Amino acid sequence: MKKKVRYFSTIKKHGSDILESDGMKTEKKCVQHGSFSVYDHSLYVTSMCLRISRKLRIRVNEKALVRGALLHDYFLYDWHEPTKANRIHGFTHPGIALRKAQKDFRLGRIEKNMIKRHMFPLTPIPPKCREAVILCVADKLCATAETADGFRKKLADKIRRVNLNV
Ligand SMILES: [Fe+2]
Ligand SMILES: [Fe+2]
Repeated sequence: MKKKVRYFSTIKKHGSDILESDGMKTEKKCVQHGSFSVYDHSLYVTSMCLRISRKLRIRVNEKALVRGALLHDYFLYDWHEPTKANRIHGFTHPGIALRKAQKDFRLGRIEKNMIKRHMFPLTPIPPKCREAVILCVADKLCATAETADGFRKKLADKIRRVNLNV
């Protein structure tokens, strides 16, 4: 974990069974962006969802929001491996995540819609509920920040290694 996760008590209250699951243990071993595991990413996205809904005072089913956000990338494989299937990971992983999440947890309509539609507009069908719209936004914000963090670290590393011998 890179930084403190906001609203962790709320996340634990609604999703402790998910956090302690074997699937989430697998997520800890899978890289999402840069040095962030899929587990880290899922936690940050969940806290961002809570932040957006609370700050903007959007009425949501908070339990479903937490559970859908925690499980939105529950695909459980390393998508960085150069396989044919992974080339279209961006399009296929919401469906895979939903299938695997449904096998391990009981999901309601909100959680299902959140997971299935979180890659909109890359996948063309838009989300149908407020919680899924919030997840769509939070996921993009966090992915951008995590990727930028990776670039920043690489750049700093390169600059540190520069030796002009002057
Ligand atoms: Fe995703
Ligand atoms: Fe994500």
